[in-house]
Amino acid sequence: YVIGIDLGTSAVKTVLVDTKGKICAVVSKNYPLLHEKTGYSEQNPEEWVQQTASALSELIANANIKPEDIEGISYSGQMHGLVMLDENYNLLRNAILWNDTRTTEQCHHLYKVIGEKRLLKITKNQALEGFTLPKLLWVKEYEPAIFEKTAVFMLPKDYLRFKMTGFIHSEYSDAAGTLLLNISKKKWDDELCQLAGININLCPPLVESSECIGNISEAFSQKNGISHFNETYLQVELIMLAEQLAPVFYHQGKHYVVLGHRVLFFLMRNEAIETLYGKVHYFNHGKENAFYTMGVTLSAGHSLGWFKDNFAKNVTFEELLADLKNVPIGSNGLLFTPYLVGERTPHADATIRGSFIGMDASHKKRDFTRAVIEVLRFLNESIESSRNEKLRLCYHGEQMIMLNSSRRFNAKIVKLSTEQGPALGAAMLAAYGCGWYKLIGRVCNVFITSSKTYYPNAEHVQVYKQLYELYKEVYLQTNDLSK
Ligand code: XUL
Repeated sequence: YVIGIDLGTSAVKTVLVDTKGKICAVVSKNYPLLHEKTGYSEQNPEEWVQQTASALSELIANANIKPEDIEGISYSGQMHGLVMLDENYNLLRNAILWNDTRTTEQCHHLYKVIGEKRLLKITKNQALEGFTLPKLLWVKEYEPAIFEKTAVFMLPKDYLRFKMTGFIHSEYSDAAGTLLLNISKKKWDDELCQLAGININLCPPLVESSECIGNISEAFSQKNGISHFNETYLQVELIMLAEQLAPVFYHQGKHYVVLGHRVLFFLMRNEAIETLYGKVHYFNHGKENAFYTMGVTLSAGHSLGWFKDNFAKNVTFEELLADLKNVPIGSNGLLFTPYLVGERTPHADATIRGSFIGMDASHKKRDFTRAVIEVLRFLNESIESSRNEKLRLCYHGEQMIMLNSSRRFNAKIVKLSTEQGPALGAAMLAAYGCGWYKLIGRVCNVFITSSKTYYPNAEHVQVYKQLYELYKEVYLQTNDLSK
């Protein structure tokens, strides 16, 4: 067996997978998000560690296996979050998460001192509020005493792994999301650190995603009563990224979509593509010397969850969606834009806010619900590289109920069997790291199966095409209003 751990934003998910790629047990444990002020989003990293330890104990107990049957563990996790440690490797503050948007000022500052072109050349990405470097600069400015004491910063899943093993590393695919990594050279960028005013020694050592980095530490084993982990287990590093559906995107040139709280579009590439710089995220892949692009819509399932919480609290998702049968596509002229917490792709804009456009007195709640869901239809239009392509889709997280929406993409959709994409991806890398297979592609073929195929409806495609023109216009006409 191997174990995949996905350190997500609202919960840690652990899966136990056998040599045939079958998920034998799943245990997930939640932790809270802390929003002390508007735009702030933090978590206590100690809760990640405690909840993971408890999930692992339960996983082994539930599966009724001997712990020594477990050969490897690997990790995926929420990206970009900043964890700061002092010289004794103690936590200095809560982690500032990827969805925290307090750092607009720091992003502007980075463009000023580094220059947009130079930053793009080195990091292949724009300066976005969610990324790690702006967060470091924020702490430097507003919490100088903490910054002074910082000996190393870490990404979320790397902190968890550090607490489980005692080793401090980051791997390239997660490091790429910090805005401090030279993506082509695969090293922390000296010049960039200097210009940004960050001592390069604060950056953790880098390893490949599938590198075996050691065993579970005795301290962790004893503290959590998982004594069997000690010595017995191989520990392999993984391709982090939570919704990144680590499992599937080892297939070059295939488009993957993960539909959950956010929508993520992925495409693995073997070479750098200059023309895309900045429009979509561009990161190192978990596979050596490969890259991937990613488009991110921040509020997809989140929009539906938000709508239900505020306007349909007393019905189930099923009831809410059942009501939609009577609403034609186009929601009787009502259009929704999903910028509840700003947006990343195609508009990198943390301050844009959402809207309902075209309301009239005849509209009912069901028109609004349908408008919220229909927005999904426009997402792959927005990501140029995924338009009209066959998409492989994984549903993930609470909003899986949106499953029925898959037909709304303008593409043939293959739905994957798993809903545990990131954790399964971690398990796959563990299987690869343990030497179960020589090629990662082979692990994909064994571990990933699809359950259903959907085809686009030609008539709907036409209607949505017209609506999409309007949808694009709404951003252009409303972006100033929310500033
Ligand atoms: C990706 C991103 C989010 C987090 C959530 O760039 O910010 O998907 O990784 O887990």
